[in-house]
Amino acid sequence: MDGVITIRAAAKINLYLAVGPVRPDGFHPLATVFQSVGLYDDIFAAPAPTISLTVAGNGRHLPTGESNLAVRAAHLLAEHAGLSRYGARLHIHKRIPIAGGMAGGSADAAGTLVALNKLWDLRASEDELCDLGAKLGSDVPFCVRGGTQLGAGRGEQLNAVTCPVPGAFVIVTMKRGLSTPRVFAEFDAQATGEELRAVDEEFLRALQAGNWPRIAELGRNDLQAPALLLHLGARRTIDWFHARKVPAMISGSGPTVIAYLREGDDGAELARAVAKIPDVAQTFVVNGPVAGVEVLEGTKTP
Ligand code: C5P
Repeated sequence: MDGVITIRAAAKINLYLAVGPVRPDGFHPLATVFQSVGLYDDIFAAPAPTISLTVAGNGRHLPTGESNLAVRAAHLLAEHAGLSRYGARLHIHKRIPIAGGMAGGSADAAGTLVALNKLWDLRASEDELCDLGAKLGSDVPFCVRGGTQLGAGRGEQLNAVTCPVPGAFVIVTMKRGLSTPRVFAEFDAQATGEELRAVDEEFLRALQAGNWPRIAELGRNDLQAPALLLHLGARRTIDWFHARKVPAMISGSGPTVIAYLREGDDGAELARAVAKIPDVAQTFVVNGPVAGVEVLEGTKTP
């Protein structure tokens, strides 16, 4: 079909996630390191008189109306550009887990902003798309920029960090998801009131040196304890990796688990073995960092 824009939008993990006490606006201040990894949702945008959305893959049952973040991204971009008549037929093939702590919904919103910016020839800058993205969700700006970024504020304030050596991970998704607000509420219930601490300097040095064993060792996720309290399957999976001396952590607010592969390990054996845990939905062996949103040329709608 002519004029179809095809985008792939990457999932994110948090290599480091420090959380401070809840703010008056209900959000939590973060000191985080985001990284895009090679697990993608495909987004197709074709010319049409009105906005419509269909979803395939692991998101077949998602709502496709105004409550979908991709649809909201489309309307927000049109409003920002002052378009009075606009439309697009959107189709998303989902692979990023839903309610998994990998910013799947945010990646779709970021991908939709980039796709429609191109389809409608709006020429909005990446900064503008990030500002719009922040109105849709805390992780959307990161999903627009991608790569490896230090995140502050509620996650929307970004600064690129160099990560010269790619990391390799086994991503383990769970059959049951977790609601992000619920995990933050559990964090509040357990909170000691401790102020937010900046990302550890030694961790940043390890990241910039590409020292993955050190990155894995110094990584931290303050949402892990509350998430594991709410999700026995994620706890079992983390324990399974640790019993095999494989560093593993939950991604974002969970329950997806990321395990760090040693150099030279292709992860196939670990992925096959961990998939036998009954709570596990899928496993993926991926690298990071990758681009956040990529426009694919020469591809067609499915
Ligand atoms: O920004 P987003 O809409 O993705 O956030 C979803 C929910 O996650 C928020 O309503 C809030 O409960 C929680 N959240 C938070 N602190 C953040 C990001 C998200 O408390 N920094």
